[in-house]
Amino acid sequence: MKIAISSDHGGNILRQEIISLLEERGTAYEDFGPTTDESVDYPDYASAVSLGVAEGRFDRGILICGTGIGMSIAANKVKGIRCALVHDVFSAKATRGHNNTNVLAMGERVIGAGLAREIVEAWLDTEFEGGRHARRIEKLTALEN
Ligand code: RB5
Repeated sequence: MKIAISSDHGGNILRQEIISLLEERGTAYEDFGPTTDESVDYPDYASAVSLGVAEGRFDRGILICGTGIGMSIAANKVKGIRCALVHDVFSAKATRGHNNTNVLAMGERVIGAGLAREIVEAWLDTEFEGGRHARRIEKLTALEN
């Protein structure tokens, strides 16, 4: 599995923490920045990751901003992206199992690094359940078209 990850200035610290986690796990990733703490616009960074996932260059994406809200809104504008804003482990598992989300958004100003690590691990390790949920994903896809 290869992950694309980015943040805005509001998510820089948590992004580094999650990159450390990916390295500890041996999970391949590409970091789309930003490379400084200067104020940047989250749609620019959300689109880099989301297009990478939608175009099949990455299996999944992780986006972090101050709240995670801007990143999740931006990611879900990209066709083929199902992004969930997650701040608890239960939802991390459910949104993989039921929604087959391919992008995870989190807010650095909302949760601590320990919980964020647990969320990412749960999200990466939970498989889509298929079955009745697959029908619902098909309906989501139909809404895009
Ligand atoms: C930046 O100040 C902040 O607005 C951004 O990180 C994010 O929370 C937007 O949704």
